[in-house]
Amino acid sequence: MPEFSRTVIVTGGAGFIGSSLCQSLVENHSDWLIVNVDCLTYAGNLANVESIKGRPNYRFERVSITDASSISEVFSKYNPNGIFHLAAETHVDRSIESPSDFVATNVVGTHVLLEEARRASQNRPFRFLHVSTDEVYGSVAPGQSANESTAYHPNSPYAASKAASDHLVNSYHATYGLQTIVTHCSNNYGPRQFPEKLIPLAIRNAIAGIPIPIYGDGLQVRDWLAVEDHCLALELLLERGKPGESYNISTMTDTENLNLVRLVCELLDSKLGDKNRKSLVTFVKDRPGHDRRYALDSSKISSELGWRASTDLKSGLARTIDWYLANEAWLQGCLSGEYRKYYERMYGNR
Ligand code: NAD
Ligand code: TYD
Repeated sequence: MPEFSRTVIVTGGAGFIGSSLCQSLVENHSDWLIVNVDCLTYAGNLANVESIKGRPNYRFERVSITDASSISEVFSKYNPNGIFHLAAETHVDRSIESPSDFVATNVVGTHVLLEEARRASQNRPFRFLHVSTDEVYGSVAPGQSANESTAYHPNSPYAASKAASDHLVNSYHATYGLQTIVTHCSNNYGPRQFPEKLIPLAIRNAIAGIPIPIYGDGLQVRDWLAVEDHCLALELLLERGKPGESYNISTMTDTENLNLVRLVCELLDSKLGDKNRKSLVTFVKDRPGHDRRYALDSSKISSELGWRASTDLKSGLARTIDWYLANEAWLQGCLSGEYRKYYERMYGNR
């Protein structure tokens, strides 16, 4: 086995952001061993990491982060120096329908990892990077933005479970001196995002010519971050983030959902021929507790570490659409099985 200068675990590496991060780490750090720990829920897919399977600096372990003894075995086997913790239940609508999985994975699972990291850190330097969300700050008033000192105000069970896990992580720094970093990113988009999320759902429905559901009036605001830009920020923070601190990661740009979906439709019209796909937009019942606006001030990571998002939304969306058009089989795989039943419960039989 080759010698590696560092071994890092990525939890949730078969999901959307985790697979992008694994690919980026495997490419950029040939002297690091990257261990992807993922139990493959409906959102995890080994096809997402097919391109790095078999690479000398990559391993996969099918383990749940809630299974303390298996996590302990993974730590004993690889002796890691750090972890990027991304494994989570991530979809707000599912957290409204069935919150208990969110508590089990996001809160209890994070605690299992913290305990193992605490043990590991007694023998060697260990860094724990916890990937959280802008949703912990709750809805932000127009003209304002949340910085790293803004009080938490989570409104969905998903956001509350992430907030709880953030507090646990911070407590392990304060109490045990574990070198922790908490990151809050805005909404990501890019290849391999599960089609329950707004952008891939809009792309899929626009291609299929079926209604694109918009909750409420569609004037809710999100800040869309290209997943590749996010992953570069995470790599930078594992190495150079200050232990015990948190960092916001965003583009600092407001986009209303309706404008976003219209842009997706326009881009598809220009790629596939004009079919006035905007007319597919269909207003549906709003999500309960729906946060009106997320907005992050990410000037800390820019001033301290020089990171800035480099992808503009239109070109990032165009590339994302190209990926979905070129990966029809991947999309069809998601649309079968469990997701079909979920979609029918949410939006009817389309
Ligand atoms: P995702 O839903 O695409 O993937 C989650 C992955 O975690 C899947 O591969 C799944 O199999 C795995 N997983 C779930 N439960 C597990 C368990 N018990 N043990 C092991 N693996 C498990 O999620 P994503 O969008 O890639 O999000 C990754 C992280 O980023 C999450 O922590 C999420 O809260 C955070 N985040 C995401 C966004 C976004 O826009 N996608 C925004 C802010 C924060
Ligand atoms: P989503 O991708 O679920 O991310 P989050 O809720 O974590 O921000 O949703 C993004 C926005 O799009 C959010 O305001 C809810 C809205 N939305 C719709 O209008 N229709 C949909 O079908 C979905 C899934 C989301």
